[in-house]
Formats: sequence, C-alpha cells, structure tokens
Amino acid sequence: MSAPTAALIPAPAVLELHEGTLNLGTEAVVAAHPLFLAEARLLAEQCSLTFALPTTSRIDVVLTLSETPLPEEGYELDITGTGVAIRASTPTGAWHGAQTLRQLLLDGRTLPLLHIEDAPRFPWRGMLLDCGRHMMSVEYVKKAIDRLSLHRMNVLHWHLTEDQGWRLAVDAYPKLTEVGAWRSTHSSGDEGGRYGGFYTKEQVREIVAYAAARHVTVVPEIELPGHSVAALAAYPELSCTGGPFEVETQWGVHADIYCAGNDSVFTFLETVLGEVLELFPSEFIHIGGDEAPKERWEECPKCQARIRDEGLADEHELQSWFIGRIGDWLESQGRRMIGWDEILEGGLPDGATVQSWRGMDGALAAVRSGHDAVVSPTSHCYLDYDTGTTSLRKSYSFEPVPPGLTDAEADRILGGEGNMWTEYAPEEIVDTKIWPRLAALAERLWSPADRSDFFDFSRRWRIHKPRLEALGVTPGPEGRPVSIAAHFDPVLDGFVLECDADAPELQLAVGTPDSPPDPAGLYLDTSLVVKGSGTVLVQAVWDGEAWGEPAVCRLVRHAGVGREPVSAPAFSPRYAAGGTTALIDGLRGSGNYRDGRWQGVERVDLELVHDLGKPRRLSRITGGFLQDANSWIFLPTSVEVDVSEDGIAYRPLGTATHDVSNKVQDKVQWDAVIEADGTPARFIRLTARNVGACPAWHPGAGGDAWVFCDEVIIETEDDQ
Ligand code: ACM
Ligand code: ZN
Repeated sequence: MSAPTAALIPAPAVLELHEGTLNLGTEAVVAAHPLFLAEARLLAEQCSLTFALPTTSRIDVVLTLSETPLPEEGYELDITGTGVAIRASTPTGAWHGAQTLRQLLLDGRTLPLLHIEDAPRFPWRGMLLDCGRHMMSVEYVKKAIDRLSLHRMNVLHWHLTEDQGWRLAVDAYPKLTEVGAWRSTHSSGDEGGRYGGFYTKEQVREIVAYAAARHVTVVPEIELPGHSVAALAAYPELSCTGGPFEVETQWGVHADIYCAGNDSVFTFLETVLGEVLELFPSEFIHIGGDEAPKERWEECPKCQARIRDEGLADEHELQSWFIGRIGDWLESQGRRMIGWDEILEGGLPDGATVQSWRGMDGALAAVRSGHDAVVSPTSHCYLDYDTGTTSLRKSYSFEPVPPGLTDAEADRILGGEGNMWTEYAPEEIVDTKIWPRLAALAERLWSPADRSDFFDFSRRWRIHKPRLEALGVTPGPEGRPVSIAAHFDPVLDGFVLECDADAPELQLAVGTPDSPPDPAGLYLDTSLVVKGSGTVLVQAVWDGEAWGEPAVCRLVRHAGVGREPVSAPAFSPRYAAGGTTALIDGLRGSGNYRDGRWQGVERVDLELVHDLGKPRRLSRITGGFLQDANSWIFLPTSVEVDVSEDGIAYRPLGTATHDVSNKVQDKVQWDAVIEADGTPARFIRLTARNVGACPAWHPGAGGDAWVFCDEVIIETEDDQ
C-alpha cells in the first residue's frame, strides 16, 4: 500500500506532515472532555471506533479542551506515534477537528503523523438544496448534511417553498401541503404524472437535530413575494387576481405573486413564519425575495392603494416595503432576515442581509451600506449549471470578497454557498452535480486566501474522491481541464488550434472520435494545425492517466471559411461567439449554447450575407441551429437561402423547415440543409426566421426568443 497522505479538503490553515505513521486498530478508543462527549460519540459511530469515558485506561483518540483559547470554530489536531489529540475551545471546533480525522480514516486505519492548526476564513459556509422543484427524501437530506459537515461546512440553506411545490407542513394552513405539495406533471424526464411530497414537522425536527449534532445550521427559505404559485394554488385569495391557480409544472419566473395590498397576506405569512420559527432555531430566516415580477401589482387596485397609502414611489418600493414589513416582524421575534439580492430594489430594509446571486454587485451594495452579505454568484456557485459552463476550476477560482472593499466592509461578507437548484436534478443525480464543485467552494470558504492553489487542490481531490465514493456519493465530472481556441489561417492553409490546459504538469494527448487520444502516447505541444474537416479531441493527461473530459473541436472546412462576410447577423454581445466571422469560421458548436461557438440573435431573424469572392458552383448550404427551450432558444421556423451574382439581385435557392416541436424540453441540434445542385453563385444570403416571442405556454411567454446558429456551411462542387 502506498504511504498515507494528508490530502484534506478543505486545506487546513497550517499542516505539518511528519515522518512515520500511526495505526489505529479496530479496537481504538475515543474519549473526550465532558464538553465534547457528543462529538466524540458521533465520531466513534462514524468511524467505527470505540467510545469510552475518559476514565478508561486506554485512549487512542482524545478530544480535549485547549489550554490556550482557540477561535470559535478552530481546532488543533496532532497525530503522533502514540495517538490522536484534537484540541478546541468549543464543541464546534472539536467537531471540525473530528471531521478532519474522519477524512483521513476514510483512507484506512494507518494515519500519517502530523500537526494541524486550523480555523475557517468565513463563518457562513453553505449549500442551498432546492427541495421545491424535486422533493428529496429525509434520508437524502441527512446524507447531504453529513457530507457538508465532512467538509467543515456549516449551513444547509433549505429551499422549502417554490412555484412547483410547497414542502413544509403548516398546521394553520393544511392546504399548503394538501394542494401545494403536488404538481400534476414533472418536466424532468420520466416523472410524468402527479409528483410531489412534503416534510412533516416531525421529519423537520429530525433533520434539524441531525444537522445540529453535526454543527450544521439549517436555514429555511420561505419564498416571498414571488415563487409562491404553489401557495397561491392552495389559497388563491392571497393573490392579486384571486386565481384559480395550479401548482406550476414548468420551471421559470411566474407572474402571480402574493398581493401586497391585502392584509390577510401578512397574517398568513406571519402565521406560517411563526410555525417555521418553532421548527428552526437558526438566527437567520431566508425569505427569498428574488424574481418577483411586478405586473400583477401594477394592475391590482389593492396594491395600488397600498402604494398611495404608504407614500411609495412605485412597485419596487412596494417590494421593499413588503420585505421590510416581514423583516421587522422577524426582528420582533429575535431573528434576522436574509434575502436574494433583489431585496435591494426599492431600498434595502434595515437589518437585512443580502445573498448575492446575480454576480457580486448585490454583496457590494449591501456591505457598502452597512449590511451583511452572503455570496453565491451564478458564475462560480451554481451547482445546477453543467461543468461545461462552470468547471471545477471555475468554482475553485471563486473569491468571496470582491476587490476594493475596506476591511470593515470585507468583514460583512459572512461567507458563501453553492446553490443546488433541482428542476432538472432529481435526488438520484444531485450528488453528481454537487461534487466535486462543492469541495472547491468548501475550500474557498474555509481555507486562508493565500492557500488557494488549484493544482494542489486537484491533486488532493483525486485522493478525496474515493472517500466520498466510500460514503455512497457519486461525484460528477470536473469539466474540461483543457480548452481549445481555433481559427483559420490562410497562410498556413489550415485551422490553428491553440490549447490551454489548467495545470502546467498536464500533458495533452490528441485524437479523434475514431482514434481516441492515448494517454500513454505522444503528447502535443500547445498548438497544432489541421488542414481539413474533422473532430479533434484533446485529452489532458496527468501522471500518464486521462484527467477530466477531453476538449472537443469540430472543424468544417468549407468554401465560406477565411473571408469576412458582407454582413453578419445582429448578434447579441453576450453570445457573439467569434463576432462577425463566427458563422463562417469553420467551428461547430456542442449542445451547450454557452460553449463560445454559438452566436445568438434575440427577437429578430438571423441573417448572414457572404461573398465567395467569385462565382462558384454550389452543392449545398447548411445552417446549424440549436433549440434549448428552457433557455428561450428555439429552432427557426424556416431557413431560407437566396443567391446572387452581384450582391444586389437575389433569387431564391431553397427553404428548409423541420418538424421539431418547440415544446421539446431536451436540447435539439438541427442542421438546415438546402441542396443547390451545382447552382452557380457568388453571394449567398441565409435567413433564419425567429419565432420572435416565447410561445404562450412557455414560462417566458411574450418575452424575446433567441435563434442560435453555430455555422453556415457553404459547400461547392469544386471542393476538395
Ligand atoms: C435565484 O437563483 N433565483 C436566486
Ligand atoms: Zn395586489
């Protein structure tokens, strides 16, 4: 067996490895100071050690009270030839020390000798678990809590109410769960039919106690005023229109929200929150506050009367008033309110803490005005995003404190969270989304900023992964540790591919789908030239083994490549791909519209005009399109190609259509092919008809729809 290592995640603040090992046999005995008995008992249970009172004659692992005061959550851990000692000043510190030991014991009973001094950088180290979109079993929620605590994380942000489901039993309002906990269908996969469930109060108490034993605080989230359609389905009188409503079956931002002009809404919310406070001892209560469209309030006489009576300027101030009223009530109950960064709109209520998700601006605004903030920007912290968008490395590059803050402002950044939204992630696959990125976030939230080292983290992750697997967790991919930038070079008469790898010690093996990269084969420098069409795979290799997923570059060499178009589509700068030449650069996209190869046009038709430089006999024109209805991207209704000799007078060449419904949830790639049969032409104009507005059934109904195109392939008869 190889020598034991101390590949801990998160990395301890101070870690000294010493020569030698300690073998903790199966009979090893754990004892503890009277303050730490519960922690010692649970550690013994988790690691199959024997718990004993300190009067026992043999002690192998001891949790002791530190003689010198340590930070609130800090601990010291010594593994010497004679045993293990964990010192702390608080039970929480002792627990974190115990979980560090637990990580090592997951490798086996032979421990490296070491000395650790450790304490967290931030007090709030959390994960949001959305049990509104997909109901998760009590067993699963407990497991998630246990995995958090194994990584010295301490907050489960439990998202309990949504448009698509209300999950918490409330005695005063039984219909919340009788009606609100059930959706008629589920958009995700094969879960057709009635879907849902809820947590009884007894189950909630069980979960809260389970978490408390692991020094994890459960912060419940009760969404208001938006994301509340499930509650409105149960009690439509709480809305502006009176309903009726059904529990939402589609993910999205929905227009019906609690009426701000109706006093019974506040009676309802205070009663519900009163029951919440009885269940959850957490200082903070999350009230949501995000994504609350204002159109119902604009039309509602009661809401308009409220605006007048309270002297408010508009619906944004009405939202601020709404949130402030709930915040005051929570404060009167001795709790603190936290909400998503939209609670800044119309003025941040006194005492409110902001959870910044749309970037870091919300956190900046909050701390600069003397409020606390928790950070979980989509860019780094959204665990529902695929790893092609947010790779492990991207998550690891998360810095919770934005630049330019004073020390006092930086201190108001309490910490951060990884957010696991679950419309498309049932319990069975949630772990593959959470891990390994949450391990990266755990480290960024615990370890000193100057210990940040992605390559070192990646090395430790390779050792840590089997520990999670031993606990029954199936981690997902890390993403692609190598990216490819490609362009056509007329001088070299081919595509130049430049590879960028995550780590200097990664080697690059190159291959194709038919002849996959050989990790034991020859390695590429960083660039290569490819003359013709084909798919190139570049695999990162670490110590002779494939590391992560290969980067994929699909190249199509066609007659349009290498020239500027006469006119490019009116693309959005957010989805420019390569800019004006993106559609005739020879680079095809993947199924991910954010992969940098797809160009997006919002609301209007996509039109490209290209000049081949001289008349050519066309054989075929192909436009590549993507549908991702959940992202408001639809296939064009039709694709028309016109051709011209002079760029002035055009004649139609052909039209392509498809029979793909825009209701298809899965991503669809469609190549619109227009045969040309040798038609001579110099200018080509391709027009893809945008559906324009999202259809009536769609969560974005009426909003701007997108057309996404990756390439317009122009094939001629004289092509090689
Ligand atoms: C959010 O993702 N709507 C907070
Ligand atoms: Zn209203």
